[in-house]
Amino acid sequence: MTRIILKTIKELNELRLSNQKGISFVPTMGNLHRGHKELIREAKKLKENLVLLSIFINPLQFNDKKDLSSYPRTINKDIDLAFAAGADAIFIPSVDEIYPKNQKKINYLKASENLSKTLCGISREGHFDGVCTVVNRLINIVKPEVIFLGEKDWQQLLIIKEMIAKNNIKVAIKSIDTQRDIDGIPYSSRNNLLLKNDREKLKLFSAELFRTKQIFNQTKTIELKKIMKKLKDKDIKVEYLEHVNAFNLKRSTSEINITMLTGAIICGSTRLIDHVFLMKRDPIIAIDGPAGSGKSTVTKLVAKKLKFIFLDTGAMYRALSWYLIKEKINYGNSEDLNSFLSDISIQFKSVSGSKQNVIINNHNVTDKIRTQEISSIVSSISSIKEVREFLVKEQRKIGEAGGIVAEGRDIGSKVFPHAELKIFLTATIEERARRRKNELEAMGQGNIDFEQLKNEIEKRDFDDSNRKISPLTKAEDAIEIISDDYTINQVVGKILEIYLEKIPKELHL
Ligand code: PAF
Repeated sequence: MTRIILKTIKELNELRLSNQKGISFVPTMGNLHRGHKELIREAKKLKENLVLLSIFINPLQFNDKKDLSSYPRTINKDIDLAFAAGADAIFIPSVDEIYPKNQKKINYLKASENLSKTLCGISREGHFDGVCTVVNRLINIVKPEVIFLGEKDWQQLLIIKEMIAKNNIKVAIKSIDTQRDIDGIPYSSRNNLLLKNDREKLKLFSAELFRTKQIFNQTKTIELKKIMKKLKDKDIKVEYLEHVNAFNLKRSTSEINITMLTGAIICGSTRLIDHVFLMKRDPIIAIDGPAGSGKSTVTKLVAKKLKFIFLDTGAMYRALSWYLIKEKINYGNSEDLNSFLSDISIQFKSVSGSKQNVIINNHNVTDKIRTQEISSIVSSISSIKEVREFLVKEQRKIGEAGGIVAEGRDIGSKVFPHAELKIFLTATIEERARRRKNELEAMGQGNIDFEQLKNEIEKRDFDDSNRKISPLTKAEDAIEIISDDYTINQVVGKILEIYLEKIPKELHL
């Protein structure tokens, strides 16, 4: 097979024009190792794309000239490794090619302050600005469909994701977990610079992180000071060691579920980083949205794919309504209602496939709650303040262990404000009216006036968003999906993709 090595943007453009394939892009600074090999392997999974790897030691991301000059350069070995791992082409541009003297084309970017002025950013002034600038520049040149990055540099990954979202750059990001050598240390281009004794220190550091993770899995606590002391006793020079929220890198607080114990140590003249991810409970996905957005179907399918519980909040209101009727409770009287609620327990039990039973106080009501009688009263019962407060509490109880996908109107904003992923699933009024019209016609109700349906949906949206109790709310950090142009399966696929890319691979179940 011919080895395609490109040195200029012109050559790259010619390849793209002659090839007509999408590009899966693996940007690197060379000195390739197992981590890069895995990135290429991952990139190769998109069979229809061309895998292009770049090798460019980006001067902008070195705040220390000595670090830049001593950065390992092993170009011939790199070329062999990249092609052997399956790269289709390698782009090795010069500094002038990436940053031409007529600087007009270059957009010098600033990394997100919140994500970059902490951890590694404290001692590496300007480093992440340099990373953002070069990645943006490389994306402009390569025009990839997907870019592949390692989770070893988690802070860098978060910063690049933020930069891509903020600048509305149309490229997907896929990441792979940290690759480790048999002695547990993470592969890094800088490992080549380590003397034997330094490598031993890195090994001890990584081992300490993993030991802490084991303890955390049992106790759910971290004792940073104790770990620092242990490292000091082993003569390990720690630049920083922090326990942070894995997504915003702020110091972890007790309500945060996915966190990262992360640190940098100095070995000789080399600075090395490592981390472990920690999780107190399984993740929660919240899917909110207006009526007719398809959220019930989507939520059920996402839960099935992930083998999570589908937290069907509607079924909880129905189960409670069924029990209120069965027990002949006068729910207009808040004293009677409160004493009744104090004795209620609702559970979901999965049976086969995607089916799950709804149990209220040991009564399996899965089918009983789908009757017309329940449908006709559930709406008025669910607008009772005591009922809503009680069920939000119950929903949180079910959510304590995580591993759920919940749908509703205020799940992300109110019920689970710390859900790992929040989706706001919606569709235009026209599309929802079209879906409703098809549904009604399929049920044999012909002659539906489209404009009237649209007006009804518009009114329902307004009422849902403006009612006092549990209004429809899009959480600040929710990702909006407008489902007009997608099939149900495409929406499910999109949510799964976002979820799987967000949760660190180390924590995938
Ligand atoms: O992680 C790296 O190798 C570099 O920071 C990157 C992303 C290739 C940008 O120069």
